[in-house]
Amino acid sequence: MMANLYLMRSKSDDLNTLITKKLLANYTKHYKNVAIYCPVIYVHRIAAVQEWLEEFNIKQSSKESYGFTLRDAMNTFSHDPHYFFNKILEEYENLKAKYDFILVTSFSEFGILDGFELSVKLAKNLNTPIAAIIDQKDQNIARKIFDESLKGENYALIDANFDFNELMNLKEYEFITPNRFKFELIKKSVKNKKIVVLPESDDERILRASEILLRSNVVHLILLGNETKIKEDALKLGLDLNGIEVLDPANSPLCEEFSAMLYEARKAKGMSLEEAAKLVKDRTYFGTMLVHSKKADAMVSGASTTTAETIRPALQIIKTKEGINSVSGIFFMGLEDKVLAFADCAVNPNPTAEQLAQSAYVSALSAKAFGLEPRIAMLSYSSGDSGKGESVDLVNEALKIAKKNYPELQIDGPMQFDCAYDAKTAAKKMPNSTIAGKANVYIFPNLDAANICYKAVQRTANALAIGPILQGLKKPVNDLSRGCLVEDIVDTVILSAIQAQ
Ligand code: ACO
Repeated sequence: MMANLYLMRSKSDDLNTLITKKLLANYTKHYKNVAIYCPVIYVHRIAAVQEWLEEFNIKQSSKESYGFTLRDAMNTFSHDPHYFFNKILEEYENLKAKYDFILVTSFSEFGILDGFELSVKLAKNLNTPIAAIIDQKDQNIARKIFDESLKGENYALIDANFDFNELMNLKEYEFITPNRFKFELIKKSVKNKKIVVLPESDDERILRASEILLRSNVVHLILLGNETKIKEDALKLGLDLNGIEVLDPANSPLCEEFSAMLYEARKAKGMSLEEAAKLVKDRTYFGTMLVHSKKADAMVSGASTTTAETIRPALQIIKTKEGINSVSGIFFMGLEDKVLAFADCAVNPNPTAEQLAQSAYVSALSAKAFGLEPRIAMLSYSSGDSGKGESVDLVNEALKIAKKNYPELQIDGPMQFDCAYDAKTAAKKMPNSTIAGKANVYIFPNLDAANICYKAVQRTANALAIGPILQGLKKPVNDLSRGCLVEDIVDTVILSAIQAQ
């Protein structure tokens, strides 16, 4: 069974070295290209790792064999834990692409912080099974911690007399941490670079996000606004936006073409050519027209406009995909080691049964596009046939429509959130359901429930909320929250680029 290994070290350097060398002796016999990776290393240990590389004839540079030195790690972790995990994940994945086997050797202490807990977190991010060097007397407590935190995944507790065959049987984990989820997204967007338009160049957060996106080279950006003003603002903020494309809706030569197109699209709704000419100078309409006319692949806006203002032009002009007449908004909720999708958190205040069924369908497509195998729960305050009421009837009706129109969906309901999420509750409340207890896509009965719930989970469980991603439109247009952070903008642009693939 092929698996990399996360060696959780003990406090004894001698014991750690003895075990590491034994492991390397074994693994280098089994695998042609072995690499060592220490996510965090004491400066004085760098030479020891170099010696191992030489002793076991491992063809890897010393610099490749570690991530952070302890001091840098502590500083980075305290300022930006996401960057800390991302850098380690990226370096590890780069090694994985080059070597057959990676021995991750990790810390037992992390300065003043608990190295044990952090090690579990790292192993879950890397999906590398843990072998922990643990004293016999501490093994029971270690087992309890691992059983709980690794949710039934395999690990080994070892000492100097470990059984190598046991380690060879360890399987890699399949956790989707928020960092891994984002890492995979970036990989997808880099594959096929798309053009994303950002209309709100007067917002500092948009400029900061643009710089990050330019640097990481994952998308091509178009900023809307006055080029001189954008340059001045970037200079003031110390940002390098060199090479970014800027279009100004106030005097763009495209306005004439866009006016004619907008007039064509909306004349049946009573729009005059004069009105169209005026509207295309509005940056949200101009951005929407760039996407509609295929000059851009996606638009991200809403840092300073309401959801309604941001998405109305898209609903009016870009319109829905064939077979869909209801746009909805999905959030990907990054919990500690899994990602769930919630919908519709953004668009339809009081959906009909038909709209709920469509929400389930397009959410399944979105989940798939972002790497999840969708298992859909239609949520309610009732599980199975336990409760009665108008809204339960609505969800039942939606389920019926979804099953009829989209027979390929893995879907069930109505069910309460605990029944959808938790296997033990599901076994009691809906024992015959193949979805209950395993759902990863949650369709809420209305906008109140969905919007309140995603924010409650985001704030109280400290979950990463990525979205909303509008689904069902012919081309991606995505809305930012007015309270968005630079990081949210970066994420939404990357998600939009993937939607456009
Ligand atoms: N799917 C597809 N098309 C739609 C949808 C939909 N869900 N809703 C409206 N449309 C279309 C209409 O068919 C119409 O098209 P037409 O002019 O070509 O006939 C056009 O959009 C305008 O429709 P109206 O009925 O006039 O709707 P309005 O523009 O007033 O509102 C909107 C639509 C903006 C989506 C509204 O439902 C809304 O404000 N929803 C709530 C948004 C919100 O505040 N969300 C919460 C915050 S988001 C967050 O917290 C992440």
